[in-house]
Amino acid sequence: MDSFEWNKIAGAVLGTLMFVLVVSFVGEAVFEPAVPAKPGYVVEGVVEQTPTDQTSQAPAEEALPDWGTVLPAADAAAGQKISARCEQCHDLSKGGPDKIGPNLWGVLGRPRASRASFSYSSAMAASHDPWNFDHFFRFIKSPQAVVPGTKMSFAGIPNAKDRISLIAWLRTQSDSPLPVPPPQPAKAASDTHTPTAPQTPGSTPADNGKAPAAQGTKPATQTPAAAPKKPG
Ligand code: HEC
Repeated sequence: MDSFEWNKIAGAVLGTLMFVLVVSFVGEAVFEPAVPAKPGYVVEGVVEQTPTDQTSQAPAEEALPDWGTVLPAADAAAGQKISARCEQCHDLSKGGPDKIGPNLWGVLGRPRASRASFSYSSAMAASHDPWNFDHFFRFIKSPQAVVPGTKMSFAGIPNAKDRISLIAWLRTQSDSPLPVPPPQPAKAASDTHTPTAPQTPGSTPADNGKAPAAQGTKPATQTPAAAPKKPG
């Protein structure tokens, strides 16, 4: 082999190396984008979703409080303070006017989108299920997530305790406050029970001495139309 032949081989080897370097460099740039640990901007009041939630459309299901347990213990005075945030758009008083949003006197227990004087979005008017504790608790966490297309432009209250206080207060702002269901100690104590497992037959005073076997179901004071519950 003459030197010209060696030059060709060396050239081919160098060329191949260059090619491999370029391909790996480009490949890395294309297939391994650096993911920032935090999203680029933070919108105040918007709940940050965990990465597993980002692909699902529905908001993460939040365990619902046992209203019979949390409401008697709730801080309605704190709830009254929180309700000042709603008064920006809602009149809360009896016989008061509609503002940007409808008057909210007696809203708990009232059918959704039922103020004839207020023009609701079609999203809100799509249901007339009465506002029960569960619905309200979910809605106030993130109005746009729970009623997509609502014209209530309020980010929501992420803190569950604040929402419970608010509900305890708003419940009293009514001619006929929505009854507080009897406590369900089994549910309050543990949400990890499998759905098929019988609940602990600890009878509560509100059961009127009925057979303990009747414990598994929620009291009928709540609307049957309540959103289906996920166990746990
Ligand atoms: C920026 C204005 C604004 C704020 C703040 C606001 N809302 Fe609203 N709210 C609205 C509007 C507008 C509607 C009507 C929504 C529709 O028709 O889609 C509404 C509707 C509602 C409804 C449904 C009423 C019905 O008759 O069915 C409830 C319940 C409600 N708001 C509760 C609250 C509570 C509680 C707060 C405070 C934590 C609050 N809102 C804060 C504007 C607001």
